[in-house]
Amino acid sequence: MFYPEEIVEEVRVRNDIVEVIGSYVQLQKKGGSYLGLCPFHNEKTPSFSVSGAKQMYHCFGCGVGGNVFTFVMEYENYNFIEALNLLADRVGVRLPELEASKEEKRAADLRSRLLEVQKQAAKYFFYQLKAEQGGAARKYLENRGLTQKTIIHFGLGYSSKNPKDLYQYLKGLGYEDELLRESGLISIEETKGAYDKFWNRVMFPIMDLNNKVIGFGGRVMGEGTPKYLNSPETKLFDKSRNLYGLNFARLSRKSYFLICEGYMDVISLYQAGFTNVVASLGTAFTSLQAKIISRYVKEVLLTYDSDQAGVKATLRAIPILKETGLSVKVVNLSPFKDPDEFIKKLGAEEYQKRLDQAKNSFFFELEVTQQRYNLKDPEQKTKFFNEAAKLLLQFHEELERNNYIEAVARTYHIRYDDLKSLVNRMGVQLSVSQKFPERIQKEDSKFIKSKGKDGIEQSQKLLFTWISDDISVLEKILGILDISDFTGELYQKVMTMILEQYQKEKKVLPAQIISHFESKEEQTAAEHLFSMEIRGDLNKEDKKKALIETILKIKGNSLAKKYEVAAQSGDTKSAQKYLTQQFSLKKEEMKDLEKLHSYFQEG
Ligand code: UTP
Ligand code: MN
Repeated sequence: MFYPEEIVEEVRVRNDIVEVIGSYVQLQKKGGSYLGLCPFHNEKTPSFSVSGAKQMYHCFGCGVGGNVFTFVMEYENYNFIEALNLLADRVGVRLPELEASKEEKRAADLRSRLLEVQKQAAKYFFYQLKAEQGGAARKYLENRGLTQKTIIHFGLGYSSKNPKDLYQYLKGLGYEDELLRESGLISIEETKGAYDKFWNRVMFPIMDLNNKVIGFGGRVMGEGTPKYLNSPETKLFDKSRNLYGLNFARLSRKSYFLICEGYMDVISLYQAGFTNVVASLGTAFTSLQAKIISRYVKEVLLTYDSDQAGVKATLRAIPILKETGLSVKVVNLSPFKDPDEFIKKLGAEEYQKRLDQAKNSFFFELEVTQQRYNLKDPEQKTKFFNEAAKLLLQFHEELERNNYIEAVARTYHIRYDDLKSLVNRMGVQLSVSQKFPERIQKEDSKFIKSKGKDGIEQSQKLLFTWISDDISVLEKILGILDISDFTGELYQKVMTMILEQYQKEKKVLPAQIISHFESKEEQTAAEHLFSMEIRGDLNKEDKKKALIETILKIKGNSLAKKYEVAAQSGDTKSAQKYLTQQFSLKKEEMKDLEKLHSYFQEG
């Protein structure tokens, strides 16, 4: 943590979680907590619960959870520091200046100056479009059907005919040549001097997640090559990790994104009401972009151009998207060239119909494959079925795969059993002849690895949940269980914090404990320790029984482990002690808190 703990805690306490989440999600009071539709997965009945008392949230549908920082990190796709800044701003807490290294300062400084240049340029282009010299550009955009509102929303502009215009303007604002060169907007050559990269083009500013301009695309008005000119990659502009339109799409609250090829497609679709649309930046779709998309939605619809290049690009994008776990469908635009043209010819309603009819990417792949073969020719037909079998191997779940085998068998009039055995043979053959690329392992933090539904973990979670509900539970276990009795680094770490809080303030604040972890994955893992679902309503007596059973389980497990360590290291005295204790625990009379206390107090 870079900021002092007290400040982090002050920001957390002053940002009531119900209020903060309530500004993003509609919440309804239900019993002691609030319920709403989970913003992190698609659902129709609410399973997203926010507790004012615990200052935590938890989704019983998809398992996300944490404190107010985790929520902002997850929702805004921020890191901890960014979330802290947002929440501090929200309640007017001033954060102290961070001590950054010289190198970090210089880099941050350069970045912010480059951002400033991009912003000034965007303003300038926007102004040019409005001005007299922007007449032709205005006409061009109008002819393409864009409304004034859309032009403003996307910040479209115009780069004038004079190839030194922007350079002179930015110089006038005091920026030095070196910075302007690094911005990618100005070229500086020994013979020609400085000149603008973009001139006499309609300008499309490209924004990052936080609506900051990081680069531009510029289109010729009418015919001419290149049709689009794009900013080069700079310290700000990384084409492999940004998406055109993502700053808007991420706020669309739709369960899926539309992915298209061009700037104009994004803008047209957006104008037609499809605000969940993104495009890559004139480069092939990357796995980083897929990963970023998968933070917001679980499904994407590819709506690329219907020409050959578009089909090729679709086929390339499908495995990249599927690799991140996204489900992928393909939209059929024929007979139109691209979404922009489709919308213009048939309108939004017809486009929506195409979305509703979008095919699972497998059927798209299958169809494209089929077109390469003449099924009337027996030899080619065999080849096609071999290819189809290869495609069917992408389904790893047996039931799912069988369902697809059945669908293919039906469509192409082949017997299910025959196709299935072909798929199986193909699977064996491929696994010998080529290694499938290993699925990218999610970078698990050291705390989350032990995810297993192992009984001890469940018991420990149950205990933590009870403690967070009722501090007297902690008082009951003190003297019986200590930190060393808990299994797993995360559990021991959290137990240490619980005891610290208890000693200081005689209470336990799970939401504060969560702030000690920096990544949202760790925060969610910590939150899970306090959100064990407790079955049914236990009465007082049952609760006591359950608590004792839980304690016995945790202690028993711990003694067994301690025994093993002692025995292995030759510490027979301790080993004997742990063994005796283990046996004693099994006695009926030990199912009593007082007995347990006196037993362990006396050693
Ligand atoms: P398209 O040629 O499909 O452009 O290229 P478009 O968006 O449909 O453009 P309009 O409708 O003719 O105006 C798709 C994308 O490929 C990149 C751009 O990002 C474009 O939006 N591209 C295309 C270039 O970078 N340079 C080019 O010369 C052409
Ligand atoms: Mn187009």
